[in-house]
Amino acid sequence: MNEKYSIAIDGPAGAGKSTIAKEVAKRLCIEFVDTGAMYRALTYKILKLSIDPNDYLGIIEILTNTKIDFRNQSIYLDNVNVDKEIRENYVSQNVSYIASIKEVREKMVQLQQQMAKSKSIIMDGRDIGSVVLPNADYKFFVTASVKERALRRYNELVNSGETNISLSKIESDIIKRDNIDSNREIAPLKKVEDAYCIDTTDKTIEECVNMIVSIVLGR
Ligand code: CDP
Ligand code: CDP
Repeated sequence: MNEKYSIAIDGPAGAGKSTIAKEVAKRLCIEFVDTGAMYRALTYKILKLSIDPNDYLGIIEILTNTKIDFRNQSIYLDNVNVDKEIRENYVSQNVSYIASIKEVREKMVQLQQQMAKSKSIIMDGRDIGSVVLPNADYKFFVTASVKERALRRYNELVNSGETNISLSKIESDIIKRDNIDSNREIAPLKKVEDAYCIDTTDKTIEECVNMIVSIVLGR
């Protein structure tokens, strides 16, 4: 495939979007953009500066003075690599509220559309097929049962050394985040009509990657 094309992947937390998209990008030699990382980076900055997540004007000021970009698949916040910091549980617990603010979404969507302008890309998030890349050549809605998604997140946190967590709390945090993401006014998480649905609950990463690659390559 020589011409420029784009792949949109949407779905709820812990469904496997980023892991699968990263692998698909490698196989197809195209760029991968994790749009959730951008909302996480802004949320991390707001929390680090002790701005109240309900302080709308404070958040708008931070937004105006924040630079977010990717370099070699890593995310940079004001020129500092924050790959690790943005995955902390307290960021996950606050990100959906920050991501529901209109001005925040406008800025992120603009940056994301800019990234997709000149090259083939696979992007994952919540509103990629609906808002960021509504004309994407391929759209996927990747999901899994809430129990499986909570278990995956729990295992990730345990493996990264977190001790002060419980599976039931992770599950209730995920349900809360799904609710905010799916019911917000602007760009809610939803399966668009022209997206293929992939339920990853009982599938390996390899199986999911193969499904997407075969569809894109038309096999
Ligand atoms: O990796 P995980 O599924 O936990 O979440 P993420 O993709 O890192 O996204 C974190 C949060 O950012 C989501 O729960 C959404 O609130 C928000 N988000 C969004 O609103 N729109 C996107 N395109 C991507 C993420
Ligand atoms: O990006 P999203 O929040 O949708 O999920 P992720 O961060 O890519 O994946 C969450 C976890 O699920 C990771 O630890 C993946 O390795 C795991 N996973 C899995 O076990 N089986 C799959 N079919 C897909 C992902």
